[in-house]
Amino acid sequence: MLIQKYKDFLRLVIYQIYPRSFKDTNDDGIGDLPGIIEKLDYIKSLGANAIWLCPCYKSPNDDNGYDIADYRDIMDEFGTMDDMKRLIAEMHARDMKLIMDLVPNHTSTAHAWFQESRKGRDNPYSDFYYWFDEPPNDWESCFRGSAWAFDEMRGQYYLHSYAITQADLNWNNPAVVKVMQDVVDFWVDMGVDGFRVDVIDQISKDFEGGRNCFGPRLHEFIHALFGREKTAHLFTVGECWVDDIEEMRRHCAADRNELSTLFQFDHMECGRAEKFTPKKDSLRTVRDVLIRWQDKTAEHDLLHSLFSDNHDQPPLISRVADDGEKRYESATCLAAMFYLLKGVPFIYQGQEFGLTAAHYDSIDCFDDIESINIYAELCQSMSAVAALEKINFGSRDNARHPMAWNAGKGGGFSDAEPWISLHSRQSKINLENDMMSERSVFRFYQKLLKLRREQDAFLDGSFEVISGPEEECFIFTRTLGQEQWAVVCNFAQETVIELPFDGEVVLSNQGRIDVSGIYQEYECAVIRVH
Ligand code: NOJ
Repeated sequence: MLIQKYKDFLRLVIYQIYPRSFKDTNDDGIGDLPGIIEKLDYIKSLGANAIWLCPCYKSPNDDNGYDIADYRDIMDEFGTMDDMKRLIAEMHARDMKLIMDLVPNHTSTAHAWFQESRKGRDNPYSDFYYWFDEPPNDWESCFRGSAWAFDEMRGQYYLHSYAITQADLNWNNPAVVKVMQDVVDFWVDMGVDGFRVDVIDQISKDFEGGRNCFGPRLHEFIHALFGREKTAHLFTVGECWVDDIEEMRRHCAADRNELSTLFQFDHMECGRAEKFTPKKDSLRTVRDVLIRWQDKTAEHDLLHSLFSDNHDQPPLISRVADDGEKRYESATCLAAMFYLLKGVPFIYQGQEFGLTAAHYDSIDCFDDIESINIYAELCQSMSAVAALEKINFGSRDNARHPMAWNAGKGGGFSDAEPWISLHSRQSKINLENDMMSERSVFRFYQKLLKLRREQDAFLDGSFEVISGPEEECFIFTRTLGQEQWAVVCNFAQETVIELPFDGEVVLSNQGRIDVSGIYQEYECAVIRVH
């Protein structure tokens, strides 16, 4: 049985915003906080009641805000602290919750802590980062190259697990734990309702085991952040690449007082051999991952997170379904597969109208530090054309193009030149077109989220799979007391599906009436079982 706090969290529907690309209101080509305020009613009308806001703190933007120079101030391009206070007030007035992005593993090297730290070995900040005379190991940065960089001023090497301007904080220093607790408290006092915690597994390093994550003090540090009286009520979701339920238990079991849930990324591997290389994969693979985690989290009373897309991944629809002719069917089928399961739904901006991956003919259309570094590396061993194809497939920029509100010149995002190219399919795939279409992904999402909201079986009901592992479909039930619902998602062309019960089709992406019979490819139906 889930504890009450987790049951309450099941009522959240979280809409993820990448602020830089969401809505620009001051014509500088960069999204901003007033733009988010302008769209709150839209987000609410979708059926979301919370927002995860990617970092909006002061930052030089080498990694689009994940390189923070001041945790207590707002990035100039996004607005002011007053805008932030207004955002929180406007959200709370609409009964919406704000989940901020907390980045505790590293700061920008422009942060005052780093600037002090590099001055020498005997100032109050000298041990805020990992400094060594020589690199103590051969760790690599996630963005390529060595994770150790030499700083001329200090005359030592520091660790940067990401860009060279993102220095890893040394959490073994109690002063670091304290300043990060203060950052959390600052935002809690400001009224935020929770945190998405960036690469939480990396705040304790396992130097002996040779990994820059899952170190021996990890749980002590997470507990120090979120297990306190002031923070225990918050909704917290950790970005944490666990593939093991025991590991998840250690982070999220109710009695641990650490995180509410975490993102696990098994399904992110679907459709690709590695990040930049496609692989023929199918919705069956996604289904099997989902089933595994539904079963495991239920067995251990853990709160699960449900997401298919985010700002670091090309949309799943383009990897495992049909993002062309059957885009509407694929997008809605994926929605039914993910968001009627047990857990907290996260919907990434654009997903609600079936946004797909983009495609460009030039590397100049990309901005992401990871994509640009990897492109340069790939060009050493293959033609520029082949390298660009890989970047087109795997780039994080696939999810970072300006929100396509309409087909107009700036896509309804901005009247100015946007900071990054518009989505290559923006004139066709945009919210306005979708809403005008009879087959609107947005309206399907609205109906689905309304069902979730109104039928408790979709929140706390038990989960059972009906389809077999060899079948090209995913059929499951959610049951609470006398109430039972079934969800049918078909992956193959024209399949006859005979259900072992009768019922009423309440939601369908094909105008379906009979519960059993021929299902088209990517057809889905939500059925109230009689
Ligand atoms: C994970 C974030 O989601 C990603 O965008 C960022 O580059 C890294 N962590 C480093 O903060």
